[in-house]
Amino acid sequence: MDKVRIAVIGNGIIGEAHLATYQSIPEAEVVAICDINEERLNYIGDKYGIKRRFTHIGKLLQEPDIDAVDVCLHNNMHAPVSIAVMQSGRHCYCEKPMAGSFYDARRMYQVMQETGQKLHIQLTFLYTLETKCAKRFIDAGDLGHIYHMRSYGFRRRGRPYVDGYAAKEFVNTKTSGGGALFDMGVYHISQLLYLTSIPELERVCGHTYAEVAMDEGRRAISGYNVEELGVGLATYKGGLSMDILESWAIHGKPFPSSVICGSEAGMSLSPLTIHSRKYNVETDTTVDLSEMDYLDHTVYADGAHYDNSQQHWVHALLGKCDLLPTAKIALETQRVQEGIYFSERLGREVTADEIEALSESKALEIPNLAL
Ligand SMILES: NC(=O)c1ccc[n+]([C@@H]2O[C@H](COP(=O)([O-])OP(=O)(O)OC[C@H]3O[C@@H](n4cnc5c(N)ncnc54)[C@H](O)[C@@H]3O)[C@@H](O)[C@H]2O)c1
Repeated sequence: MDKVRIAVIGNGIIGEAHLATYQSIPEAEVVAICDINEERLNYIGDKYGIKRRFTHIGKLLQEPDIDAVDVCLHNNMHAPVSIAVMQSGRHCYCEKPMAGSFYDARRMYQVMQETGQKLHIQLTFLYTLETKCAKRFIDAGDLGHIYHMRSYGFRRRGRPYVDGYAAKEFVNTKTSGGGALFDMGVYHISQLLYLTSIPELERVCGHTYAEVAMDEGRRAISGYNVEELGVGLATYKGGLSMDILESWAIHGKPFPSSVICGSEAGMSLSPLTIHSRKYNVETDTTVDLSEMDYLDHTVYADGAHYDNSQQHWVHALLGKCDLLPTAKIALETQRVQEGIYFSERLGREVTADEIEALSESKALEIPNLAL
C-alpha cells in the first residue's frame, strides 16, 4: 500500500480543513465524503472534486475500498461513529476532544484495543516545534525532577457561536459534552501530558464558570449551558501537580504561557524558553526552532513524519513511523477535564477512580449510522 484511501465523515468547518490538509499529503487520497446535510455535502464534493458522496454513515462503511475514516462530527458523536468505523475494520482518525465524556472515550480506547485498528485523535499541539524541542530536553533529563506544570489557555472573548465563530453545537452539553475545558483545554493539557510521558492521575479539584455577558439571542438559539472558564488542580502519581486555567471568555489580559517546573530547570512553552541557574546566574535560554526543523527534515529525516496530525497518522498507517499514543493521551486528558466537572458538582476533590465510576455515556443516537 503506498496510498491511504480515506473517507471524511462530517464536512463542516473542520471537515473542510481536513480535506485541504489531505490535498497536501501525497500519500493520502480522499475517496469519499459523508454529511447529513446534502447541500453542504455537494458544495464540499464539488469544491474538492470528490465524486463519492454519502448522507448515510452506515452505507459509507459498507464500501469495500476504504482503508481509513476521518471523523469530523460534534463531540457526542465521536464515540458511536469512531467505534463503528473501527468495528468495520477501518483505522480511525477522530477530532478532539476524544468524546463528550470520559466513559465514551474509554469505550473508544477499548474498541481500539479489541479491533487492533489505529485510532488517532487530533491533538495539534503535539506537532508544534516548541513541543518537539521541549520533548527532547525533557526526555534527556535536562529539567531534573519535574514537580509542577501549568496548563494555560486564554481567549478574552471567544466562546463559539455566541461570540461569532463556529456552530452552536459547541456550547450545548447535549452535543459538546463540555465547554472551554473540553474544546481548547484539550490542546494545552494533552501537550503537557505528552511532554511528561502520560503521568497517572490520582485526584483533581476545580471549578467552572459562565459569568461574562453574551448576546441573548444567540444564548437562546444555542441553549448555552457550558463553562467559559475552567480552573483546576490535579495531582499525579509521584506528587507531580498541574494547575489548569482555560478561558473562552474573561475580563482580563492574556495569561502567560503554559510552564513545566523541574528541579534543574523550568520551561515556558510559548515562546519556548528554558529557565535555569548556572554559576549563580539566572539564565533564560531560547532555541532556534527553524534550524531544528530544517535539520529534522534533512540530516535527521525522521522529522518528515511529524509535520502535522493528519500527515503523521497517514505515515503511521503506511508503516513509515510508529503512531504517537494520542488515544491514550486524549483519554487521560478527558479524565482530568471531566474530573473538574465532577469536583464542581460535588464541591470536593475527586479521585481518578471516582471519575471512572461517575462518568456516563453522553453519546448521541446517530440516525444515519445503523443500516
Ligand atoms: N471549527 C473548528 O475550528 C474546529 C477546530 C478543531 C476541532 N474541531 C472539532 O471538530 C468537530 C466538528 O466541529 P465543526 O466546527 O467542524 O462543526 P460543524 O458544525 O461546522 O460541522 C459538523 C458537520 O457534521 C455534519 N453532521 C451532523 N450530524 C451528522 C450525521 N449524523 N452524519 C453526517 N454528518 C453529520 C453537519 O451537517 C456538519 O456539516 C468538533 O468535535 C470540534 O471540537 C473544530
